[in-house]
Amino acid sequence: MDKRSSSTIMASSFLLFLFLFNFQLSLAETNLMQSVPDLQNSMYKVVDGDACVRLLNLSGEIGCSNPGREKVVAPIIRFRDANSLSRSSAVLLSLNEIQDFFIRVSTDSTFARNVGGVLVESKADFQNMSKGFSPAHTFPQAEFSPYKNTNYKWNPIGSGILWNQYDFPVFLLSESSTKTIQEVSEEILKRQRSYTTVVAEFDLVMQTVKAGTHDSESCLKEETCFPLGGYSVWSSLPPLNISSSDQGKPIILAVASMDSASFFRDKSLGADSPISGLIALLAAVDALSHLEAIDGFNKQLVFLVFTGEAWGYLGSRRFLHELDLQSDAVKGLNTSLFEMIIEVGSVGKGFNEGVTSFHVHTTGVSSATNKTLDALNHAQDSLKSRNISISSAAASNPGIPPSSLMSFLNKNPITSGVVLEDFDTIFSNKFYHSHLDDSSNLNSSSIVAAASLLARTLYVLTSDTKDDSKSALASVNVNVSLVEQLMGCLLECEPGLSCELVKNFIAPSSTCPSHYVGVISDEPSSTPSPEYIGDVSRFVWNFLADKTSPPKGKTPVCSEDCSKKGGVCTRAEVDGKGICVFSTTRYVPAYSTRLSFESGTWNVLPPNSSDPMGMHDPVWTESNWNAIGLRVYTVQSAAYDRLVLLGGIAITGGAYLAIILTRAFVAKILKQD
Ligand SMILES: *[C@@H]1O[C@H](CO)[C@@H](O)[C@H](O)[C@H]1NC(C)=O
Ligand SMILES: *[C@@H]1O[C@H](CO)[C@@H](O)[C@H](O)[C@H]1NC(C)=O
Ligand SMILES: *[C@@H]1O[C@H](CO)[C@@H](O)[C@H](O)[C@H]1NC(C)=O
Ligand SMILES: *[C@@H]1O[C@H](CO)[C@@H](O)[C@H](O)[C@H]1NC(C)=O
Ligand SMILES: *[C@@H]1O[C@H](CO)[C@@H](O)[C@H](O)[C@H]1NC(C)=O
Ligand SMILES: *[C@@H]1O[C@H](CO)[C@@H](O)[C@H](O)[C@H]1NC(C)=O
Ligand SMILES: *[C@@H]1O[C@H](CO)[C@@H](O)[C@H](O)[C@H]1NC(C)=O
Ligand SMILES: *[C@@H]1O[C@H](CO)[C@@H](O)[C@H](O)[C@H]1NC(C)=O
Ligand SMILES: *[C@@H]1O[C@H](CO)[C@@H](O)[C@H](O)[C@H]1NC(C)=O
Repeated sequence: MDKRSSSTIMASSFLLFLFLFNFQLSLAETNLMQSVPDLQNSMYKVVDGDACVRLLNLSGEIGCSNPGREKVVAPIIRFRDANSLSRSSAVLLSLNEIQDFFIRVSTDSTFARNVGGVLVESKADFQNMSKGFSPAHTFPQAEFSPYKNTNYKWNPIGSGILWNQYDFPVFLLSESSTKTIQEVSEEILKRQRSYTTVVAEFDLVMQTVKAGTHDSESCLKEETCFPLGGYSVWSSLPPLNISSSDQGKPIILAVASMDSASFFRDKSLGADSPISGLIALLAAVDALSHLEAIDGFNKQLVFLVFTGEAWGYLGSRRFLHELDLQSDAVKGLNTSLFEMIIEVGSVGKGFNEGVTSFHVHTTGVSSATNKTLDALNHAQDSLKSRNISISSAAASNPGIPPSSLMSFLNKNPITSGVVLEDFDTIFSNKFYHSHLDDSSNLNSSSIVAAASLLARTLYVLTSDTKDDSKSALASVNVNVSLVEQLMGCLLECEPGLSCELVKNFIAPSSTCPSHYVGVISDEPSSTPSPEYIGDVSRFVWNFLADKTSPPKGKTPVCSEDCSKKGGVCTRAEVDGKGICVFSTTRYVPAYSTRLSFESGTWNVLPPNSSDPMGMHDPVWTESNWNAIGLRVYTVQSAAYDRLVLLGGIAITGGAYLAIILTRAFVAKILKQD
């Protein structure tokens, strides 16, 4: 601690030196510099990046943080030049080296001790694209698997580095910042100015480190962290008639999830896994919403979009828990009517040599799954001209791949369900839970194919018609431009969440989408206030409410009795007035079933044997932090300072000598006089 603060003081004295030095230099070079901010711009290079942050669970910590309460300042050195680190350094890594670096950190403690911080370059020169990169485990979230074989490797390239604890800051540089740093270090090399050093200043101070709370229970108590969580969304097509005494029809659930994870908190796009599935689901809802006959169908369709699935299946587990409690958030749903669950997983990479192929993973053999497989085949037949192939997943698989369906199966082992995926035995996504799972990692035509397959399968299942009404099925068509538009909105920064489609429904808080789950900071509620709900949840809620409502009976202004009449108020945040539509679309909080919120604080509940998954629940929380910052600047090296000091001493000594000599000389002259 002391060492660190003294090094900061040293750094700031360098800074003062540099300040004066640069000031003179700049005045000489240009007279454009007129204000202190100008001066600062010339001293500090603005670099921006995304940080890895500190997360906690009941037994420990993962992720990154400064080791103490202070900023870390360390000279930048390239990993490939850093055979051994003799002092605290900021290690600059290319993406190609990231795996090697973390292996080194875990095996070489001397090296690890001298890592002051890490800067990871953007993907521009990533060469190992074909090899892939995944910081997740080989069997992600194996502890929630409904089967015993958890050594199976769904994600064989997974390194698991996301799940370790690092007591140094790690930043992913943006493309422009990568260039800036490369230029600065090249310049230094070119000029051979060995007396200047480029340093990075990391500000990644985590509250839990400051407060010394090293697990979820203690940090929740000390209020230095918040639980991971957010809001899932469900909707029914057609809307449910809650007031009806009618028992209700059997329910077909169509499920997708909307959150992903990555080493870097806000770079969790999850394009293939799982956002491709979300987009396919939304496009299928749109396709089905145009059918008038849907009111008369034998089965009820319910769409579920979960969040928090990457962090212990928070969304699906909480949903099932709320069903047990028969809470307001799930009013109108009756578990015993659930007939079939169709989950859309990763479906963005099904395209291969002219054919788009998907694999159906089933929970077991039942008449409902048999029916679903038939419906899928039926749907595929009707799409024959589009070269879509579906096949059952290999019998050698230990069971279903990591998916929300695992929560349902754990709750009730005889649940019938299928998961539609673009892979059979191992993930075809080579960037699972990494920041590289972006829009370049998927193919829109694969999503369109999955959406078409899903829409027509749901149509066959809910209409329950045996007769081949080919023309009816052919009328269920996915809007290709909607899929492309959704990809632009949910997976790109341009247009990102400020795209027309999203802006129609909500006022997004940021443009660049990120699908990190976030934290739940206020009391969980079935009618949360919008500022506590993530942009994507709010968009999905509005989109589903709009699509599942009958076109007639939309009122342009929401009044108080909108909800009394079974309506919901969409687009309210866009113009303040909103549109009242008749729809059953609700938010369900997503947070650990091992947590309760009472009188303003979060408490960890003891394990409860009636909630077997809760026993394995790590109860993830994210540490609070004030600001995250990263700066890069040049300082005079210590050697140069010593030179200056020596020079100064020499001059002082010389002057002293000169004075004595002069004095003696003068005295001599005077004496002679
Ligand atoms: C909780 O974090 C600790 C510390 O990193 C880790 O060893 C443990 O596996 C985590 N628990 C779960 C269930 O993930
Ligand atoms: C790919 O990764 C491996 C192992 O991390 C590394 O040895 C190799 O040099 C990398 N290839 C390229 C082209 O960077
Ligand atoms: C809901 O059900 C009740 C009783 O069955 C019926 O009177 C009412 O018209 C229904 N409402 C709608 C909107 O279908
Ligand atoms: C759910 O449905 C079952 C069977 O249809 C019925 O017995 C039960 O009462 C229903 N539960 C609720 C809460 O409506
Ligand atoms: C499901 O289909 C398989 C093969 O097509 C058949 O062997 C099995 O008996 C069927 N099961 C049920 C419950 O219909
Ligand atoms: C379907 O695949 C076949 C062979 O794989 C190919 O000849 C044909 O052009 C494809 N059709 C379409 C519409 O892509
Ligand atoms: C995406 O799929 C289409 C056909 O479905 C194919 O023509 C195109 O080359 C694919 N794009 C990529 C990037 O794989
Ligand atoms: C398809 O989607 C686009 C983009 O959202 C929209 O402009 C267009 O009207 C849609 N077409 C149909 C037929 O719904
Ligand atoms: C365990 O869960 C059941 C059902 O949710 C509940 O009734 C019971 O009170 C819980 N037990 C404890 C000790 O919290």
